[in-house]
Amino acid sequence: MKRGGSDEAKRRAGESAAEAVADGMVVGLGTGSTAAHAIRALGRAVDSGLDIEGIPTSYQSRDLARDVGIPLTTLDEATPDLAIDGADQVAGGDLIKGGGAAHAREKIVDAAADRFLVVADDSKLTDRLSAPVPVEVLPDAREPVADRLGDLGGDPELRAAERKDGPVVTDNGNLVLDCDFGEIDDPAALGSDLSALPGVVEHGLFVGLADEIHVGSDDDVTVRQPGE
Ligand code: A5P
Repeated sequence: MKRGGSDEAKRRAGESAAEAVADGMVVGLGTGSTAAHAIRALGRAVDSGLDIEGIPTSYQSRDLARDVGIPLTTLDEATPDLAIDGADQVAGGDLIKGGGAAHAREKIVDAAADRFLVVADDSKLTDRLSAPVPVEVLPDAREPVADRLGDLGGDPELRAAERKDGPVVTDNGNLVLDCDFGEIDDPAALGSDLSALPGVVEHGLFVGLADEIHVGSDDDVTVRQPGE
């Protein structure tokens, strides 16, 4: 699905982060169109002899990694040295993710990695997070969780599938409620409130996890630190 800016800007960001991968590393493989550029770049490097293993964050990244020849492993077998993953919005080092409904596995892999590199085109940068926050919820908990999200001011909306009748069902068999909180003053506090709701599997606020942000534009790429 198309999210964010140009494919050229996404390519620059993804390929920049892929350059940080060294021989022998285990790499968390993010989901979405920007992370896909990093995965393709890593596939080309593997073709040229780079010895790495990948841990995918979704069916999408697993299938792409297999297509481009990256050997795969799991969190049961290895700890990622590095994770490379996209974002829907970036403010300082805090992110909103989950535009592709993969944020639960993404957060597990990105948080497990020694270093987490975010890859984003420059349309994703903002001063304050304000995009709808995806909340993955167990199907049986949909109504009570939606009520509580409404109490928190999130105006929850069940994400509808585009080429299937009915809702999006995640790779984990759950539903997604997109919650519009407007501008988020305190992402850490909101994240804690969301995590505390019984039935919430994971939310798309990634607070304090990023180590570097590779920002692509149509003619350049810059590497930012989370505080910048
Ligand atoms: C997947 O659920 C998301 O977290 C993606 O990483 C995020 O939506 C960024 O996707 P694009 O790189 O396609 O914009």
